[in-house]
Amino acid sequence: MELLEATPENIKKAAGLLKKGKLVAFPTETVYGLGANGLNPLAVTKIFEAKNRPSFNPLILHIAGKSDLTKLTSTTDEIIEKLTGKFWPGPLTLVLPKKNIVPDIVTAGNPTVAVRMPGHPVALKLIELSGTPIAAPSANLFGQLSPTTAGHVVKQLGNKVDLILDGGKCKVGVESTIIGFVDGEIVLLRPGGIPVEEIEKITGKIKKFSPEDTDSNPLSPGRLPFHYSPAIPIRFFDEKIEKEITGKKVGALLFKKSHTGTNFNKVIYLSENGDLHEAAANLFYALHELETADLDLIYVEPVPEKGLGIAIMDRLKKAVKKYT
Ligand code: TXA
Ligand code: MG
Repeated sequence: MELLEATPENIKKAAGLLKKGKLVAFPTETVYGLGANGLNPLAVTKIFEAKNRPSFNPLILHIAGKSDLTKLTSTTDEIIEKLTGKFWPGPLTLVLPKKNIVPDIVTAGNPTVAVRMPGHPVALKLIELSGTPIAAPSANLFGQLSPTTAGHVVKQLGNKVDLILDGGKCKVGVESTIIGFVDGEIVLLRPGGIPVEEIEKITGKIKKFSPEDTDSNPLSPGRLPFHYSPAIPIRFFDEKIEKEITGKKVGALLFKKSHTGTNFNKVIYLSENGDLHEAAANLFYALHELETADLDLIYVEPVPEKGLGIAIMDRLKKAVKKYT
């Protein structure tokens, strides 16, 4: 594995590797992606192997221009134009009927494909130079914390990827919002970096799948009930629980400076002023810090479930679920 700064030269080198069917981890505005040539089934197989990802969990194709959407998907709905006009490049993924050019392994056999145009100059340049859509899940081992720095990728996938491009810390910090269509109706498949309220300004009310729908809903095979989990137990913070923690090394992930954080061995505030954008950008970074801080347990304070708080709470609930 090579870890290189995302200079123009190194992006070119990374594009060369992608063309040869190799794996490259790269920065996006949401989280780091583990990329392969999205039109080369053999290359895409390597993503599933590296992550230990079940093959029924489909991937997002990343494109560098809005016009590439029509090469991959067939859709005439004018709402798509409005959504891409407003939110691309950026953290919005659209799930649409796929064209034959998209390999089945990318979509896990689904008739639909997920597509997004990322809002990060390194990602856009890499896609452009590689001359192909890049299939990329988050660059973490299946079920574990998503990476928001190149160091996080090294920690989990260092020996499994050919090159990691270091583009610094991801600004948004949670994955893209995923929107799909069922019988002409718009549905939210995953809350993410664009608050659903912003999307609803264009689309009107969107139906949201709750995690309880996950098992039975074939439209969102990747929305497993637990996910995004640190390697040590994590629970939601509750004032009563403070008494239980004697004798344990406990870390606290607090939303804002509302608690003193006494009684804890390590305290991280997601945003001292209670800003949800800042909190989202720090979420996985803070969880990686706590995961490696020699603790027995992490307590996390819930954040308000509005705006980006909906995506933050989605990730936290799934992280906690693994340990309940
Ligand atoms: O921000 C992001 O979206 C990041 C960066 C790297 O772009 N990518 C990302 O990929 O989060 P991943 O693989 O970790 O999550 C993609 C989600 C999965 O839950 C998957 O099930 C869902 O998208 N998905 C992909 N294709 C789908 C499809 N055809 N229908 C329904 N869900 C789909
Ligand atoms: Mg992921």
